[in-house]
Amino acid sequence: MKIDVIRKLPDHMDTIVVLQTQSGDMKNFEYLPTDILDSIKVYIKDENYQFSYNSICTFHYMNHKHNSKVILCGAGEKDKLNADKVRTLCANITRTALKHKSSVMYMFMGFDMPINDVVFGHVVSEGCLLALYKFSKYLSDDKPKTIEALHIVIDTKNTRHLNRGIMEGRIYSEATILARNLVNEPANVINPESLSEAAKKTALNYGFSIEIFTYDKIKRLKMDAYLSVARGSKYEPRLIIMRYNGNPDNKTDVVGLIGKGLTYDSGGYCIKTAQGMVNMKNDMGGSAAVIGAMAAISTLKLKVNVVGIIAACENMISGDAYRPGDIVRSMAGKTIEVINTDAEGRMTLIDAIHYGIDREHITKVIDIATLTGAAVAALGTSFSAVMTNDDSLLEQLQQAADFSGENIWQLPTHLDYLDLIKSEVADLKNVGGPYAGAITAGLFIREFVEDKPWLHIDIAGTALKDKENGIYSYGGTGVGVRLLTGLVRNLEKELNKEV
Ligand code: BES
Ligand code: MN
Ligand code: ZN
Repeated sequence: MKIDVIRKLPDHMDTIVVLQTQSGDMKNFEYLPTDILDSIKVYIKDENYQFSYNSICTFHYMNHKHNSKVILCGAGEKDKLNADKVRTLCANITRTALKHKSSVMYMFMGFDMPINDVVFGHVVSEGCLLALYKFSKYLSDDKPKTIEALHIVIDTKNTRHLNRGIMEGRIYSEATILARNLVNEPANVINPESLSEAAKKTALNYGFSIEIFTYDKIKRLKMDAYLSVARGSKYEPRLIIMRYNGNPDNKTDVVGLIGKGLTYDSGGYCIKTAQGMVNMKNDMGGSAAVIGAMAAISTLKLKVNVVGIIAACENMISGDAYRPGDIVRSMAGKTIEVINTDAEGRMTLIDAIHYGIDREHITKVIDIATLTGAAVAALGTSFSAVMTNDDSLLEQLQQAADFSGENIWQLPTHLDYLDLIKSEVADLKNVGGPYAGAITAGLFIREFVEDKPWLHIDIAGTALKDKENGIYSYGGTGVGVRLLTGLVRNLEKELNKEV
């Protein structure tokens, strides 16, 4: 879909979108043809339409000159409007337009946006582009529906900022859609090898470098916690390392993004229920977020060094799979008693994190994972759980989340919880009992970040949606792509402040 800014209207407008704040009058719409404006006024009066937030109505306008669909969209109270809300409105406008088979939209606004032009352009394009997404490649009869263009009608000659924002939103959206596609592919298509191939293709397309390690190399690195999980599958593991060197002059700071890449999680010998297994093809949502973020970060040419690491594998059952009771030595040297083979994500993440610190010299550790059902139990599907050892890093993430609308909520890291993962026979056990499962999983990971600033993002509840809503469609959400990109952008500012 093309998105641009225009001042001059064509003779015919396929779809007219009117965005207005609550109880705003229709004075600011001198751009609309007067006959159409009059009919809108009549409609508003007849229907007592208030432009309350997210209320959308449509009607058809036809006379000797015009034949247009009209979409009225309420922005609610102006003081309460923010970037995320505008994004959602644009998504819902797009969904409405799709339903009415619109081809070209003209958007008119009756008020001054309370957000700046770059931000406005950004969220308009994200809202529209993400709402258009649907994973339909396996539907034989699905005719892909789309909208050709959105023209934002504004009386300004200076469209530079707006256009820059539109471009940015397009970059974020494309990277998010890339992640959604990876998540939505089933496990008979995406296995560790094909995931690594997808990462490689992304690296080539977006211009970051990539290295992929196969079993032998991973074995030589002594990543035995990771390998214990991988062993039960007929697919070999792949350690995927993506490097983006956006600030070669800076030899000290490297941001590490570590994504959980379980291409399938059956639970292993602690096998999941049939219902619990259905969505476990999506257990690589964290890695999809990292691949997407790498793409966006490279495209934006951020002046920062980033390494993305994915320990991709599949958690299956076989004569060679790991068992409850096994004791394995992680790459870092700490031993782990396997209490539950279904707590596999943390086993892979800690080796990936240690590899990142030891071999890639990452100085910040940011892990993102569909890690625990407990995070879903605690926060449901609209907040990701986060944990940290660095409040200022969390503050940067919070800012990114406020903008992207990918909500986060902090869980405590109090020392008491650490006792729950102490083992009698090894340095740690991989499960901390029935309570505080999201917290003990996070603390398990924290044991491997050494003294590095660390952020842990548990997206078990937010990686998927079971029905379309706003920018989300059924299936993978691509959560984390825009969040991590926003975070790295904030870090870019901070890292380049001193010099
Ligand atoms: N991948 C799952 C977590 C998950 C659950 C993600 C539901 C998305 C939706 C993870 O590997 C897992 O199985 N965790 C276990 C841990 C438990 C055995 C301590 C869980 O949450 O039940
Ligand atoms: Mn599991
Ligand atoms: Zn898992």
